[in-house]
Amino acid sequence: MSGPRRPLVAGNWKMNKTGVEAREYVARLRALLGDGELSCDVAVCPPATALEATARAASGSAVRVLAQAVHEAEKGAHTGEVSAGMIVGAGADGTLVGHSERRAAGETDDQVAARVRAALDAGLQVVVCVGESLEQREAGETERWLTGQVGAALAQVRADEVGVLSIAYEPIWAIGTGRTATPEIAQEACAHVRSVAAATLDPAALRVLYGGSVTPDNAAGLMAQPDIDGALVGGASLDAEAFAAIARAA
Ligand code: 13P
Repeated sequence: MSGPRRPLVAGNWKMNKTGVEAREYVARLRALLGDGELSCDVAVCPPATALEATARAASGSAVRVLAQAVHEAEKGAHTGEVSAGMIVGAGADGTLVGHSERRAAGETDDQVAARVRAALDAGLQVVVCVGESLEQREAGETERWLTGQVGAALAQVRADEVGVLSIAYEPIWAIGTGRTATPEIAQEACAHVRSVAAATLDPAALRVLYGGSVTPDNAAGLMAQPDIDGALVGGASLDAEAFAAIARAA
């Protein structure tokens, strides 16, 4: 531990990489990170089809493997969905929940709450994502929106789960746009997320990550902010060199 909150740097591959590509990537990442003690936790989030190959390739290393989404039901007629038990069975360690790209496809606050609960019940780590649109920011609604999203996401979470749940603040206007939030804007929003989450979770122990156009060039400035405990990286995580550089910046 490098402090009360060990940073987490997670790479969300989104709809990229086959199992073979994932294996090659993880081998490269392991070589880049080396065997020494890392100063942060590192995770990759492959698509469901590559979860098992990624988990095998990461086995015995410090690299953790998270799914990108989970369904709240244990099993049943939910075509195309993946349960928490299946993620465990694939050898993964956790899952993202409530990514804005999933919310845009219809995932509701209630589903996010149920999916967080299902993942935690299965013993998975959770990174739950929140964030406002550009419209909401420009209308001055960011804090109110984040308050609602965080409150809903944590509705079924217990205080003793703070060690296995992180919140990623990902402003939608910064995702995949190259328009990174400034460290000041990201800090302000992450501090707000932490203060809202404090109704359920010890704010001193909760990890709050920033995501949205994080690169090797801007990662250190973002993660130096007092309320930013790591990064959820999309595009830049597809390249093992760039992702390792971001992890080293933590
Ligand atoms: P980019 O880093 O590509 O902006 O994506 C961020 C993200 O959505 C990570 O979950």
